[in-house]
Amino acid sequence: MYFFNSKVANLHRIFDQNERKDFLRLDLNENPGGLPENFIKKVLDGVTPQLVSQYPETKHFSEVLAKHLGTDISHLCLVNGSAEGIRYIIQAFTSENGRIVGVVPSYFMFQVYSEMYGRNFVKVPYNEDLTMDVDNIIAEMTGDTQLLILLNPNNPMGNVYTDAEFEKILKVAKEKEITVLVDEAYHYFYPKTFIKYALNGEHIFITRTFSKLFSMAGCRLGYVVGWAEGVRMVQKLCTPHNTNAFAMRIAEAVLETPGMLDELIAKFTEGRKFLVDWLDRNGYPHVGEAGNFIFIKPKTDAAAIVDRMKEEKKILIKVYPGVGKFGNCLRVSIGEKVYMQRFVDALLELDK
Ligand SMILES: Cc1ncc(COP(=O)(O)O)c(C=O)c1O
Repeated sequence: MYFFNSKVANLHRIFDQNERKDFLRLDLNENPGGLPENFIKKVLDGVTPQLVSQYPETKHFSEVLAKHLGTDISHLCLVNGSAEGIRYIIQAFTSENGRIVGVVPSYFMFQVYSEMYGRNFVKVPYNEDLTMDVDNIIAEMTGDTQLLILLNPNNPMGNVYTDAEFEKILKVAKEKEITVLVDEAYHYFYPKTFIKYALNGEHIFITRTFSKLFSMAGCRLGYVVGWAEGVRMVQKLCTPHNTNAFAMRIAEAVLETPGMLDELIAKFTEGRKFLVDWLDRNGYPHVGEAGNFIFIKPKTDAAAIVDRMKEEKKILIKVYPGVGKFGNCLRVSIGEKVYMQRFVDALLELDK
């Protein structure tokens, strides 16, 4: 009899995201403007036939990245997008039926991977006022919990944790021997990081991506930071040569070009200020702009606005139903001012 893994067969995945190139995409938290065009051209100018023909070398780029993070390469594992790193942490640090605790709503792949591997994902919901109670997280950190997943800041809620809150959680995690994963995909938009805990302690991982501020979602590159033994476990799960040579080349150029990160942050900050000021002036409640996205409560039906944005304005945004006291909301990725202008012009016309 042919065998089907029922966990895979029953898994719900989304495969309809491949005909979107003509849209202004503000639904996946990409950078709509991307890196400067002349910068990309310059980086690609140096591409040799060997860069394409040979399996990628990771040591040099790992060293560049380790230097940027103030660590050494034993604490780093490069992955094909941070979603890959998250998957390996779940595989390596939880067991069949193992208990994983995570806040909801958040990045959906935590639940997808938990289901894929037959783990028990326990949800800690947000409060009605869209805040997260650290004590509610701690209450779910039972003795049989294997992994706690936090996001700093969270996508889509945009909440963050103070040092005191994080340390309170870590203390319980240590006592109960629970591995902690902190997803920092939206680091740089929100500068506070818990990376020092992952570099100096054990059983704490940080995952980060080049898809967001670095504007390289099309290249697939991310990394896992942790204690050396934990990182080696993650490395063992990676497919051979999982890291793309082009991605590492572009990421290295971003890191080594003076002012490039600052320029990206400045353009983003200008776009965010423009959008937030506009929303305030026009009476739109909004929340959660710690990352490169924001929840907006529209004046009329959120789902209808999302549909009309797509059909009439060629703009993709997301609807989030039942966002606490906000009800049905729009989640919109934040980018440079020119794209935010296009979005608010469309909202003004459609939301009445
Ligand atoms: C919170 C969070 N983590 C991870 C990811 C995955 O990023 P990557 O492109 O590195 O796989 C995303 C993507 O949107 C995200 O929102």
